[in-house]
Amino acid sequence: MEMKTWRHVFQDKKVLVFGDTGFKGSWLSLWLHELGAAVCGFALPPDRDDSHYSLLKLGSIIRHVDGDIRDLQQVQGIVDAFKPEILFHLAAQAIVRVSYQEPKYTFDTNVGGSVNILEAVRHSGSLKAVVYITSDKCYRNNEWVWGYRENDTLGGRDPYSASKAAAEMVFGAYLNSFLAATKDFGIARARAGNVIGGGDWAVDRIIPDCIRALKKGTPVLIRNPHSTRPWQHVLAPLSGYLTLAAKLLEDPKKFSGSYNFGPRVESIKTVKELVDQVISGWGHGEARISPQVDAPHEDGILHLNCDKASQLLGWYPLWDFDRTILETVKWYKQVSTGQSTMSVTKEQIASYMGD
Ligand SMILES: NC(=O)c1ccc[n+]([C@@H]2O[C@H](COP(=O)([O-])OP(=O)(O)OC[C@H]3O[C@@H](n4cnc5c(N)ncnc54)[C@H](O)[C@@H]3O)[C@@H](O)[C@H]2O)c1
Repeated sequence: MEMKTWRHVFQDKKVLVFGDTGFKGSWLSLWLHELGAAVCGFALPPDRDDSHYSLLKLGSIIRHVDGDIRDLQQVQGIVDAFKPEILFHLAAQAIVRVSYQEPKYTFDTNVGGSVNILEAVRHSGSLKAVVYITSDKCYRNNEWVWGYRENDTLGGRDPYSASKAAAEMVFGAYLNSFLAATKDFGIARARAGNVIGGGDWAVDRIIPDCIRALKKGTPVLIRNPHSTRPWQHVLAPLSGYLTLAAKLLEDPKKFSGSYNFGPRVESIKTVKELVDQVISGWGHGEARISPQVDAPHEDGILHLNCDKASQLLGWYPLWDFDRTILETVKWYKQVSTGQSTMSVTKEQIASYMGD
């Protein structure tokens, strides 16, 4: 689907975004707003003053409600009050390491919260399309070299990955038991992983760690230099979620299901290669290998086969690894030298759309 046609699809549509204060949700909410949608976000308030959501002052251009997805009444309340036609669910405890420290909170949010959202979805009379975001980590990781397909076995060794696999099971049960038979309604789940881009300040993610060190003039510490990851720019999976919503509106039953959104295999690089490229884009800096002996287990290579999204939705990632790093570093540099976050972020969205 041509991105140029999206304005016709999303113009004046009521779109509810769970997780709008987060990294991906803030980019998605602004993109939807740019496409003319009437956006309402629901999430916990941002946890830092320099969050992407706060720097964009997103709360002043979209409607936003502070709330907790673990509370069914609040979730049901916002769906009943706003009456969205489209819903994106991106609210989650999204950090693997935090899931080791806070396993119950992670399961309560990622599984219980998702149950609450699906409860509200099944009682809604307004919804036509729902995109439910989980993760590539929902698959059982067999440490294969080839990409995981949508029908591969679910799994998850750590609490975060298991919570995402469990959220998938919950989705399947609601789909089969309640939602598949609903007329004029489509629902799909989307799995992506290792998203990078401007505006992410999360602790324990490699790009924010790099930028913090480079800004301070200290070495970038790399814990797992040889771990390989399929890196993709945040706009790539978001373009997949938007394509999916547009297709669900067009033909809900045909496009309901599961979709992977990942980069091409050329973008599978080691953490060291990523950091070196970031340092080169920044212009100066130093990387230092700093293995952590007591680090909790993190799965090795896992990448996604995205043939289904390409063939059924016509979706492809547009930026290669070099462009992904270039745009990411450019975002942080421009914002740290005083350019407006809004103009930098809007410019990248326009550039991704080929405007
Ligand atoms: N960033 C990545 O690399 C990546 C990779 C794979 C999957 N994902 C998934 O994509 C989605 C978005 O990820 P992100 O990187 O933007 O995460 P993030 O941590 O930046 O944002 C999470 C959002 O969820 C909200 N949230 C968390 N707990 C909540 C609760 N109890 N009630 C209401 N809102 C709550 C936060 O307020 C925030 O708006 C998540 O489902 C995540 O698991 C992210």
